[in-house]
Amino acid sequence: MTVKDENFQAFFEIAEEIIAHPMYKTQKDFYHHDETSVFDHAVIVAFESYRAAKKLGLDPTGIVRGALLHDFFLYDWHVEGKIRQSSLFKKHGFTHAAEAHANADFFFELDEKETDIILRHMFPLNIKPPVYLESWLVNIMDNYITFREYFRPLTKTQMDLLDFVKTKIEY
Ligand SMILES: [Fe+2]
Ligand SMILES: [Fe+2]
Repeated sequence: MTVKDENFQAFFEIAEEIIAHPMYKTQKDFYHHDETSVFDHAVIVAFESYRAAKKLGLDPTGIVRGALLHDFFLYDWHVEGKIRQSSLFKKHGFTHAAEAHANADFFFELDEKETDIILRHMFPLNIKPPVYLESWLVNIMDNYITFREYFRPLTKTQMDLLDFVKTKIEY
């Protein structure tokens, strides 16, 4: 096993309960930006947050679980966005953190930190700031990964990670 595979395996062991859930897998049908599904986006944000958390001495388990569920809103926001155009504050950017949390709370057992990661990932659009360092890290990583999705292809490691995870869960 290479170092990379070991890293993927350690990440997957934390992530498995969520990633392998049938409802979680439905996110492959919703697109985040262009070619990237919400599934791929969330797994990449979770993995990059996990790597950074380990370097910074933060909680790897909480960060993986919270980051995996940060966009668990379960609809196509490009379609919903058109329906909701009437009111600025009903737009996806303002509402989806709360919707992701409601879904995540229904399907999984969340602790306080995981809840904070999900609910605060859209700060400052949602005005309450994160409480935990792990939530700040996911907030920053989500912005970075989203920005990158517009301009750059996935890295080789990110593509390998998605292959690894998808083989494990029969995606
Ligand atoms: Fe989001
Ligand atoms: Fe996101």
